[in-house]
Amino acid sequence: MRRAGYFPHPAHVFAAAEFWQNGPEPTISVNHFSQSFRSPTAITREDIMTISSFNPPVRTLMGPGPSDVHPRVTGAMARPCIGHLDPAFVGMMDEVKQMLQYAFQTKNQLTIPVSAPGSAGMETVFQNLLERGDKAIVCQNGVFGGRMKEVVERCGAIPVMVEDEWGKPVDPQKVEDALKANSDAKLVALVHAETSTGARSDVETISRIAHEHEALVLVDAVTSLGGSELRVDDWQIDAIYSGTQKCLSCTPGISPVSFSERAVEVITLRKSKVQSWFLDTNLVMGYWGPNAKRAYHHTAPVNALYALHESLVMLQEEGLENAWARHDRNHLALRAGLEAMGLSFVVEEEYRLPQLNSVTIPEGVDDTAVRGRLLNEFNLEIGAGLGALAGKVWRIGLMGHSSRAENIFLCLSTLEAVMKEMGADIHTGAALAAAQATLAD
Ligand SMILES: Cc1ncc(COP(=O)(O)O)c(C=O)c1O
Repeated sequence: MRRAGYFPHPAHVFAAAEFWQNGPEPTISVNHFSQSFRSPTAITREDIMTISSFNPPVRTLMGPGPSDVHPRVTGAMARPCIGHLDPAFVGMMDEVKQMLQYAFQTKNQLTIPVSAPGSAGMETVFQNLLERGDKAIVCQNGVFGGRMKEVVERCGAIPVMVEDEWGKPVDPQKVEDALKANSDAKLVALVHAETSTGARSDVETISRIAHEHEALVLVDAVTSLGGSELRVDDWQIDAIYSGTQKCLSCTPGISPVSFSERAVEVITLRKSKVQSWFLDTNLVMGYWGPNAKRAYHHTAPVNALYALHESLVMLQEEGLENAWARHDRNHLALRAGLEAMGLSFVVEEEYRLPQLNSVTIPEGVDDTAVRGRLLNEFNLEIGAGLGALAGKVWRIGLMGHSSRAENIFLCLSTLEAVMKEMGADIHTGAALAAAQATLAD
């Protein structure tokens, strides 16, 4: 029988979510590719007759992102699509750029949203700044430093790795040592807020060190923008990228980027073309640039940009410093509750991110079973550990619109109930009161 709406079996939904959060990086070999795309017969209309509109379940998103999208943002997204060269749209683009300058705390003219997710922002900054044979110091203390290395290699450049333990911040001394040993390094790249562990690194100090050695500074702010103090101009960051799906309360799919004047000069003086046509800022600026003719480059994701515009209006209404303070306040309440239950944090307090809380899974507790029950019975998503931390930690996000008191209480009460039922060795009955007391302070 044909069903009204699409309701996948919960087990399938969880299996997919689990793969995304837990699974290894998929490696696609040529063979695998040709095998999976060789279909014996073409799909007919009858084959897809059972498919109807997709109606997703309503979840509370407290994982590593995407986070809850504010209803004002989804409302903005549903407004009528207009042409991406329509004067009304072009006016909105200028406002988006201005509001991004505010969010990044920068006067950088080259501050734009890339029409693709955070990873495309990562590719944009590396591909525009690096040329074949350049050397880049890449700091790795989690998953995303590893992705940076991959991107550097794909640019034909040479990554020099500075490695720190997962859960620890990047060590500025190690960066300085690497710069001393590699005086020809063009840039230092680091992740401000490592989503895979919940550790925050000291961008300001590392930036100062890099500039003393005449290297540019490139920062991943996918999880920090809007959630933690971030000052692009004061900290003299040369290139930065973020994502819309974390602390901006927006839908996934856009990556705000910003380049300093020094970085723009490096791009202008390139000897070779940027390898990617789509991500070449020289070309993109023909559409987004301050004095540009606003000529066609690619079809902008019109409605996704309405969404970003609305989320940035909301950030402006709340005030950037107030948004940072909200993330801090809610983190402290969640922390009080989790610790009252007996759970412990992976990252030392000094470097802990308020928006991504990594806690150790208690001995004998089945990670997959707990997350599965939270998702299937309470529509609550929390994140699994990644890479080296898979199966050992949970990553509980309090990002953007997800960073709310009601989410804290939902998470604490359901997590406690599920673990208690499973016979876990935790303290019960104290978490909600601890969170409440912290919020009331
Ligand atoms: C720190 C960090 N960098 C980069 C990315 C990649 O962003 P996206 O998944 O939007 O491509 C993520 C995504 O979670 C991230 O957390």
